[in-house]
Amino acid sequence: MDQGHKKGLDIAPADGKLGILLVGLGAVSTTLIAGVEAIKRGIAEPIGSLTQMGTIRLGKRTDDRVPAIKDLVPLTPLDDVIFGAWDIFPDNAFEAAMKAGVLERALIDQVSEPLASVEPMPAVFEQNFVKRLHGTNIKSGSSKMDLAEQLMADIARFKDEKGCSRLVMVWAASTEIFLEEAEVHLSLDAFERGLYDSDPRIAPSMIYAYAAVRSGVPFANGAPNLTLDIPAITELAERERVPICGKDFKTGQTLMKTILAPGLKARMLGLEGWYSTNILGNRDGEVLDDPENFRTKEESKLSVLEHILQPDVYPELYKDFAHVVRINYYPPRGDNKEGWDNIDTFGWLGYKMQIKIDFLCRDSILAAPLALDLALFMDLAKRAGMKGIQEWLSFYFKAPQTAPGLYPEHDLFIQLMKLKNTLRYICGEELITHLGLEYYD
Ligand SMILES: NC(=O)c1ccc[n+]([C@@H]2O[C@H](COP(=O)([O-])OP(=O)(O)OC[C@H]3O[C@@H](n4cnc5c(N)ncnc54)[C@H](O)[C@@H]3O)[C@@H](O)[C@H]2O)c1
Repeated sequence: MDQGHKKGLDIAPADGKLGILLVGLGAVSTTLIAGVEAIKRGIAEPIGSLTQMGTIRLGKRTDDRVPAIKDLVPLTPLDDVIFGAWDIFPDNAFEAAMKAGVLERALIDQVSEPLASVEPMPAVFEQNFVKRLHGTNIKSGSSKMDLAEQLMADIARFKDEKGCSRLVMVWAASTEIFLEEAEVHLSLDAFERGLYDSDPRIAPSMIYAYAAVRSGVPFANGAPNLTLDIPAITELAERERVPICGKDFKTGQTLMKTILAPGLKARMLGLEGWYSTNILGNRDGEVLDDPENFRTKEESKLSVLEHILQPDVYPELYKDFAHVVRINYYPPRGDNKEGWDNIDTFGWLGYKMQIKIDFLCRDSILAAPLALDLALFMDLAKRAGMKGIQEWLSFYFKAPQTAPGLYPEHDLFIQLMKLKNTLRYICGEELITHLGLEYYD
């Protein structure tokens, strides 16, 4: 990156309305919509959202320039945000929020009108990918290409009817079964042939991603599905100059892991094992109770420690540590997940210690602000002419998408530095290295 790049990128203004198209109108999506509507009305604060509450230091520490991020970069104001969605169930966002059971009735009632106005469009769905759910609000088509074209028509109609000047799409639908990259994913040509042939290895989430990118709409993947991580979609995103990013919102347990593990490594403390278990009772938990769907989540959750701790570089500290992740579907807890971690660590002379974490969290309360930030930053990226994989948004993901051959950065603090330096870069501000020697010259 060019440190002398003083001008910044040319950023188109955030004029007009931004439509946020949500795939899946479940717990995360309805918590996001209700939250944004409550914040717009001054009923609540946007806690957990970097775009709404975060600041960014510019220049030297002595310059005293610390604007809000939303004052540095032209983000769409919440008043200009409107929502659309697809779901396999016909419930509008009010009904879906009531069923999700995340928010209190009193809050939902105050935003019932805008919630009820979000009616899900019929979804592209294939039972094989999510066996536990049985919906009725589903498109039929002669081929997967036909379904993609129906989605593109939905996108164009929504934009026109709601008078949006720009759109972004966020996948907040269920986790699909585990899928490995196959021949049909390896090029755009093969993928498009596969769409015409309704190839069984093309997942519904890939059809949404294809439709979004072909429509020029940035796509963020909040679930651990393969969706965007295939050459066909990255090639399309480059060609259409559309930003994409994923995958899997980094919320409860993995957030804690990527906060703590860098700390252990920073102090050269060893790790013998990390055992993580969760009890969760929402619809997401029900879907993840199916071993094929859980495998997709497990792969995403397991990847973080290896990358942060670098056992190859530090074999005395991290070689062969045990890492186990479990999710147990336990209906009484609903969305209020409990995540337990037992960490077996060791210090000076190999003496053993343990750390226990019991995070009584709320899944969708943690995820909603991430979905909002991603939508607003992806729209900014598009207006700034950024295209393809947006690695600077790794901060939000359990398994950040990177260029082929590049390992992902999982350390939350490096991710934040990367995000903020990218914002500085976009605006032509000096990048901050935290060197600090200049203060002592
Ligand atoms: N909440 C978190 O902390 C968190 C963190 C990381 C990832 N996620 C992921 O985000 C996603 C959403 O989570 P949630 O708690 O809102 O789940 P949810 O089950 O409440 O909502 C998902 C919705 O997607 C719908 N759906 C399923 N397949 C669809 C399709 N093909 N098209 C359109 N709609 C479809 C379902 O009917 C459901 O209403 C899940 O994949 C979850 O794993 C959530």
